[in-house]
Amino acid sequence: MSNSYITGSFEGHIDFINYQDLVEGASKVIPGPSFGYIHSGAEDLYTYDQNVTAFNHKLIVPHVLMDVEQPDTSFTFDNDKLTAPIIMAPVAAHALAHEKAEEASAKGVSDFGTIYTASSFASRSLEDIRAAAGTTSPLWFQFYMSKDDGINLNIIDIAERNGAKAIILTADATVGGNRETDRRTGFTFPVPLPIVKEYQSGVGQTMDTVYNSAKQKLSPKDVEFIASHSKLPVYVKGVQAREDVNRSLDAGAKGIWVSNHGGRQLDGGPAAFDSLQYVAEAVDGRVPIVFDSGVRRGQHIFKALASGADLVAIGRPAIYGLSLGGSTGTREVFEHLKHELEIVRQLAGTQTIEDIRNTTLRNNNFI
Ligand code: FNR
Ligand code: LAC
Repeated sequence: MSNSYITGSFEGHIDFINYQDLVEGASKVIPGPSFGYIHSGAEDLYTYDQNVTAFNHKLIVPHVLMDVEQPDTSFTFDNDKLTAPIIMAPVAAHALAHEKAEEASAKGVSDFGTIYTASSFASRSLEDIRAAAGTTSPLWFQFYMSKDDGINLNIIDIAERNGAKAIILTADATVGGNRETDRRTGFTFPVPLPIVKEYQSGVGQTMDTVYNSAKQKLSPKDVEFIASHSKLPVYVKGVQAREDVNRSLDAGAKGIWVSNHGGRQLDGGPAAFDSLQYVAEAVDGRVPIVFDSGVRRGQHIFKALASGADLVAIGRPAIYGLSLGGSTGTREVFEHLKHELEIVRQLAGTQTIEDIRNTTLRNNNFI
């Protein structure tokens, strides 16, 4: 069953109340195999499901009489003023969701005013992504390394030439997760992957083939390699274990990205939110922490910030907004989550982002 290039995509305002509305709408506009690739996860979807339900393991205790009014979600990160601590996670091949692909998502995220992380497996070049995003919002580059260090140096150079402010080394996908939906639908990429064209064609390839073409034997030496050939800070994405924090930082990483790839990789592992507190304890404030996987609500963002994250990234929600409304839809998903976060902050009695970070969540002993 082959994918079709998506055409006739809508650009404009989208009506939705929550994430489920986005899923339902996106399932109607994204061709079946592509939707399955985006929406599903690994094996029995235990970890995939836990990513969302785990947010109920910790509770936000409302506070009253806290003299809070219209809490402002904007703040400065790495000398950039962001509209909210919500950023775009790297997601491959946005052309699967909208005909304007990463050009639309990058514009939407930039219009919102936050960090856009471009995937190595983007369906547009970094030049096109940078041009669409403009220079107002920070661009981060997520790196799937090639087996060839010469190619890796070329890609690092492309990232730097296009103004990337960080390199995100994804370390939890050295082999594809067991994604049964893609096997059932026969999903293959219907679009090229221009950034990595020196070592990937993309078109007609399964996700496993794409992963196997990338570098699989990752070690701290790869962090050292990037750090020694680029002035950009290197974040390690996919960290869930305390031990991996020092392994990353000792090799020169300047940021940690707590994630389980949205439940697409190892099924049977912990929800990313359940790992966050352990990683945050191990990081102990030494470097910034990004968190993703399962974020669907403003309360999820609040809980992640209160558990040690500096930034919270979204993947699927943004892609569904893209599919339904292009750059406008993408922006509106971020605005929706920001609005939900503002409600939570007012009711929790937290005026500033720092107040959130200083909030103690209550363990939910009833589940
Ligand atoms: C991803 N993710 C991902 N991560 C990465 O480092 N490089 C990549 O190219 C991709 N590609 C990708 C494609 C699709 C379709 C999805 C859904 C996810 C993982 C992504 O960065 C992030 O970790 C998860 O998407 C977060 O979970 P949610 O928000 O999608 O639940
Ligand atoms: C995925 C890869 C592209 O999750 O990271 O599909």
